Amino acid sequence: MGTKEKDYSQYFVAPDLKQAKKRGKENIEVVKFEEIPERMQQVGIGKNYFIDTFGCQMNVHDSEVIAGLLEQMGYERTEQAQVASIILLNTCAIRENAEDKVFGQLGRYKHLKMENPDLILGVCGCMSQEESVVNRILKSYQHVDLIFGTHNIHRLPHLLQNALFSKEMVVEVWSKEGDVVEDMPKVRTEKLRAWVNIMYGCDKFCTYCIVPYTRGKERSRRPEDVLEEIRELARLGYQEVTLLGQNVNAYGKDFKDRVYQFGHLMDDVRKIGIPRVRFTTSHPRDFDDHLIEVLGERGNLVEHIHLPVQSGSSEILKMMSRKYDRETYLNLANKIRRVLPEVVFTTDIIVGFPGETDEQFEETLSLVREMEYDSAFTFIYSPREGTPAAKMKDNVPMEVKKERLQRLNELQNEISLRKNEVLRGQIVEVLVEGVSKKNVNVLSGRTRTNKLVNFVGPQHLIGELTFVRIEESRTWSLNGVWQDTTAQKVSG
Ligand code: 5AD
Ligand code: SF4
Repeated sequence: MGTKEKDYSQYFVAPDLKQAKKRGKENIEVVKFEEIPERMQQVGIGKNYFIDTFGCQMNVHDSEVIAGLLEQMGYERTEQAQVASIILLNTCAIRENAEDKVFGQLGRYKHLKMENPDLILGVCGCMSQEESVVNRILKSYQHVDLIFGTHNIHRLPHLLQNALFSKEMVVEVWSKEGDVVEDMPKVRTEKLRAWVNIMYGCDKFCTYCIVPYTRGKERSRRPEDVLEEIRELARLGYQEVTLLGQNVNAYGKDFKDRVYQFGHLMDDVRKIGIPRVRFTTSHPRDFDDHLIEVLGERGNLVEHIHLPVQSGSSEILKMMSRKYDRETYLNLANKIRRVLPEVVFTTDIIVGFPGETDEQFEETLSLVREMEYDSAFTFIYSPREGTPAAKMKDNVPMEVKKERLQRLNELQNEISLRKNEVLRGQIVEVLVEGVSKKNVNVLSGRTRTNKLVNFVGPQHLIGELTFVRIEESRTWSLNGVWQDTTAQKVSG
């Protein structure tokens, strides 16, 4: 590998945070995915690919698109990295520990490259959009053959062609987002639940967050394309879709030719015959009354809202540039609860933001008590190079941050268990996903509110919606007894 002659300049467009921030409001084009180049259409026949995916659902879904592209080139999926001819790491940049995991994994793949010099090892996803990461790979991970970013996934066939035939390290990262590309091939890994992108990027620029730089500006897919994709999933027998975007509540705000926002989209999705529709992630700032009204129609729109709060302190929220305060957040939640009293809220919380005082942290605990979230993802603040918060003075020792995280988790676990106990004795609708990880005789699935339910039942229920009476509540799951409604129908 060291003998490879490398000339990156031809491909290398450096990621540039300053440029990302200056982005304008010019129109986004919608383009159709062009065919795989002829030379590449059969290049993978008899070969395997392995994708190692890190991070959020957006990455999970991007990996399904990458898989679609690779399969159109003839490659077959494998779950064993050691037999693959292509290994791609689809990476996450959200916190430092996510990045550490990727670098660790890259190091571990080095021996595979030694054993098989024809192996193509690629890095894509959010980390590739960071200049510092690309430079680190160029310097210290020269066994990597290919780096591409989040905006040019559709270019994979061309980039792979270069990597296979030029024998140089191929680096192509666009620091500016491109068009919205429709009709990309996809290989969905699940048969029951599907991810559907409704928009890309984020314009919120929360001061701690790297996403607006790695994922570019907000661009919405046209409703007709989104709705057609969901209708097709319904035809294929999917039971659940999750609409994806970094900030789904901003959907449609970039349309120049129509007034059509997230509430309108949900109202149209409501009319499609697919049993469950979820969405993630919501930003409280853009959660408008029309959307609340549409969610109130229920039907296939489930009563679960993931509403990241990040902090219970208005001062910290201001420093985070979240554009709402504690009171506005609580008012929004109450407004939603008035329309949907049975709603389940979950959230994301960051502890130890630069300069967070004990009092400010206590405000987070009190908000958690007041909101009674069913569950929460909790994180210690992690400085991200290039973001405004990374330059803020931070006098909170790591020990204190860890202690705060633990106190927050203890409180949340107590609330989660209490909330689950309320369900004991109730009959809930469960979408049966498969057998339980712990016991093959037990089936497992999820309620409309996304709670994990384990119960004993016949295997033919897998893939179906059924009813279960909850008998036992735990912090992260529920145990129940299957309610055989067909038996009742026959006897009644
Ligand atoms: N440090 C810690 N947590 C972060 N998140 C985003 N950026 C950071 C960071 N720099 C969390 C937020 C967000 C979730 C996806 O990750 O809570 O909602
Ligand atoms: Fe990051 Fe804030 Fe955008 Fe969420 S809304 S992706 S936290 S910048």
